[in-house]
Amino acid sequence: MSKTTLLFLFIISSSQSNPVMTRQSLLKQINRDHFCSNLLNFNNFYYSLEEQKNVSGIPADMNIHWKTGNVFFTLISEEMKMSLQVLRPSGEFETIKVAGLGQSTTVDNLNDVVYLATDNGVYKYKEDSSIELYTALGEDVMYVAVSNDGSSMYIATWPQNRVHKITNDGQKQEMFSAIPNGHGLTVDTRNNIYFVATKTSYILKNGYSIPIKIKGLPSDKMTGVFVSRSDEVYAMDENSNLYVVDSESASARHVGSFSVSGVNSFALDSADNVMIGIKGAILKFNANERNPCPDYHK
Ligand SMILES: *[C@@H]1O[C@H](CO)[C@@H](O)[C@H](O)[C@H]1NC(C)=O
Repeated sequence: MSKTTLLFLFIISSSQSNPVMTRQSLLKQINRDHFCSNLLNFNNFYYSLEEQKNVSGIPADMNIHWKTGNVFFTLISEEMKMSLQVLRPSGEFETIKVAGLGQSTTVDNLNDVVYLATDNGVYKYKEDSSIELYTALGEDVMYVAVSNDGSSMYIATWPQNRVHKITNDGQKQEMFSAIPNGHGLTVDTRNNIYFVATKTSYILKNGYSIPIKIKGLPSDKMTGVFVSRSDEVYAMDENSNLYVVDSESASARHVGSFSVSGVNSFALDSADNVMIGIKGAILKFNANERNPCPDYHK
């Protein structure tokens, strides 16, 4: 007998044995029990899985435009082809049209600019979906990150992910030897730079010239870091373990797990809801500040 049939019989029999409870209210109760028993309580939030959006491929390098709620990511198809995608708050996906090959995106939320890294330069993505060349024409750009005031940009270029620093509104480009190579470049609001090399997360503290490995993180399964709207620096590993990084001490503290495996990318929206990218899907965990099930006991 299938699970659904069992559930159905259960509903019929229970609703008959309990005439005050309608089938609808029972279903509601079952959904609520399911919701409440799956709540995750850590990091001062009650996380609940709100939805799963299926994609055909692996979502990588997720970023969220806090003002609009648009989720930007790179979709890597089964055939290993990359395309830049936007998941709109309406639930619709849109492929971003670029001149060449789109490889990753960066949302500079502080200065409200969305950048696209392509195999021929860095572009700005406008709200009407048009794009405009910004800098690094002729460079095969894999990753982009921007300093807090938007005045310095860091790019990592193919084939070695060599990092360059771009200033003067895109006019000046120089090698950035402090980070020899790396992907998942991220800058926090204090201009510390984070990157991943062979699945290990590093920090280059502002004012320093040598990056260091972040203490307290697994050294072989990191997906990257993400700076939240409240300025927390989060890191996540492939098993959806969430860590808070203290940049001052270059160390991380484990805060909990979403119990999802095969994580490739993660991001937080303006309300601290957590998006997790795994092969075939983007999962959204709502961050509830208060316990939505105060009377529920597991
Ligand atoms: C998404 O994929 C899962 C399995 O990976 C499947 O159970 C679910 O029905 C799919 N959802 C939609 C809306 O297609």
